Amino acid sequence: MTLKEAQARHAQLVRDIRRYDHAYYVEARPLIPDLEYDRLYRELVELERQFPELVTPDSPTQRVAEKPMEGFRPVRHAVPMMSLDNTYSQAELRDFVHRVERLLPGERLEWVVEPKVDGVAVSLRYENGRFTVGATRGDGTTGDDITANLKTIRSVPLHLRCDPTDCPEVLEVRGEVYMPRAGFEKLNAERAAAGEELFANPRNPAAGSLKQLDPRIVARRPLDIVLYGMGVLRPAAGHRPPQTQWEWLEYLRKLGFKTPECAWFCRSEEELIAAVNELDAVRKNFPYETDGAVIKLNAFEQQRRVGATAKAPRWAIAYKYAPEQAQTKLKAITVQVGRTGALTPVAELEPVFLAGSTISRATLHNEDYIREKDIRIGDTVLIEKAGEVIPAVVGVVASRRTGAEKIFQFPRTCPECGSKAVKSLAADEAEAAVWRCPNPDCPAQIRGRIEHWCSRGAMDIEGAGEVLVAQLVGRGLVRDVADLYRLKVGEVAALERMGEKSARNFIEAIQASKAREAWRVLYGLGILHVGAGVAKSLCRHFPSLDDIFEATPEQLMQAEDIGEVIAQSIVRWRNDPDNRRLLDRLRKIGLNFQSDLYRPAAAAGPLAGKTFVLTGTLASMTREQATAKIEALGGKVSSSVSKKTDYVVVGADPGSKLDKARQLGVKTLTEQEFLKLCGP
Ligand code: IVH
Repeated sequence: MTLKEAQARHAQLVRDIRRYDHAYYVEARPLIPDLEYDRLYRELVELERQFPELVTPDSPTQRVAEKPMEGFRPVRHAVPMMSLDNTYSQAELRDFVHRVERLLPGERLEWVVEPKVDGVAVSLRYENGRFTVGATRGDGTTGDDITANLKTIRSVPLHLRCDPTDCPEVLEVRGEVYMPRAGFEKLNAERAAAGEELFANPRNPAAGSLKQLDPRIVARRPLDIVLYGMGVLRPAAGHRPPQTQWEWLEYLRKLGFKTPECAWFCRSEEELIAAVNELDAVRKNFPYETDGAVIKLNAFEQQRRVGATAKAPRWAIAYKYAPEQAQTKLKAITVQVGRTGALTPVAELEPVFLAGSTISRATLHNEDYIREKDIRIGDTVLIEKAGEVIPAVVGVVASRRTGAEKIFQFPRTCPECGSKAVKSLAADEAEAAVWRCPNPDCPAQIRGRIEHWCSRGAMDIEGAGEVLVAQLVGRGLVRDVADLYRLKVGEVAALERMGEKSARNFIEAIQASKAREAWRVLYGLGILHVGAGVAKSLCRHFPSLDDIFEATPEQLMQAEDIGEVIAQSIVRWRNDPDNRRLLDRLRKIGLNFQSDLYRPAAAAGPLAGKTFVLTGTLASMTREQATAKIEALGGKVSSSVSKKTDYVVVGADPGSKLDKARQLGVKTLTEQEFLKLCGP
């Protein structure tokens, strides 16, 4: 065969195989028998072996790279990948519609309702029809380059279905990678047979697969993709781009992408509510998990005018369906010891699939809860789960009782260390129901405190998973959080499932945490009632952690949102000599005790105690500058208008906040009035 003949045959084979792939993987409508397909595919492989110059990156043979990657290159998204605000009731959904209506007074609005696919968000970039880069969402601005992994997904077109004349020059399209329910069940069945731990839901293995460095492994995972979102479009010269979300979906389908199973076009609020209900009825039959509906304003031009907040568009919203329930058998009740010593009863369940995950454990809250609901071992129970929330047992199916069920005796000793359990004497009702292990040296509590210190919301020390922390505590290497900073690479590397490299990374992550803000240190200490918000508030009011720990309860209560219960809890904590020693050690280690949130002038300024809301564009300063000015003068800036707002500063083109201010009778200020109030 001459090169010329080979070229012609190659082009023909590529064209045919692309067409068959699209029919099979995107439309689920095979055009030819598998055997026939395999024959053509083998012919293409053979041809490319003889004429390697014919191989292009978008040939159907190039889906699975032969070599693992070294790491993921960062990719900056041309347009940020935003997230969505959530609503949980039809009333909130109507509020959203009314908000948009107010932003576009008198205009006709059309809506598109789509399923909210519970997968992993990705962005695909095509240049002149060829798939060039695929990326994860990352932080919304920059993601990881996972092109090689995405190519293994057969429904990702390596080449768009378009002629050279109408192929968009650049197209960035957004969607979700998911593991189909069927593939997920099969994967878990295989893992169960192999005695391996099961995946909790299809999203976890999908996300895990995309993070694999070896595309050959990814290729074996049953992944699929659905595309819905607009990133960037530079159409071919002379071509009119889609103007609406509805046209966009149509356009994506024509280019060969898989789009959501169903979408609804709505002209009114009522149609929209009906669509959301219809979707709820049919979504069980989709091949992927859905956790809600996404409602989008149809016209791109209107979307642009409505705009976005820092995080999410104002023209779209997610509507989350009510939590799903399932019935299963309560096999046993175990008791878990938390970092504060709280003994939490946990239901050990016959595994059951619910809202996207297989559930085998659920919380039973506390002893009183079990008694009030009369939950017995052996009962058929009702469990509920909403999104990321921990599943909970919500009741008993009384009709399934046999009489053989056993009443659970809540232990009076800590199941971890054997100490006698105590109940708090606090008046707080939630608190009064909790049994606690009073032993601060209880290994379960130590583990919990270390995990909390390292958690993302606190000191953000990567690598400190449950298994590693258990080993560190179990071997006596770490007894409190200060011990972490003394760990040596050799000690960590010697632990199970650790190597030199991961040990080194872990030690580096620990050292890096010395630079974290003081409020994270305070929150990381895990003092009862001191959450991240309380820690920040304290750090705004006091210059350093030492000042906080030297303060009287009355002084502590001067800080915003700090009441008696929190103040007492802090004082109780610092009165313990062990905790004082811990603070001394942490200070010596070099952790950050100076608060960078501290605002000294705050209490005295001319705007002291006043809450401001900004709307519209100011002429003399940016919104950030105005916020800084208000805060420097002792005031506070809030993002929404309420009865507690003192002033709404109104710039050019004000938004709905002005309406709200008028509605509530909140005083509004022009820019000049505002500047005058600030003083010279
Ligand atoms: S639109 C700027 N449509 O849900 C608009 N998102 O919770 C952004 N998602 O980040 C998204 N299905 O990853 C949109 N039909 C759909 C979706 C969808 C799933 C994901 C998406 C987004 C997240 C927000």
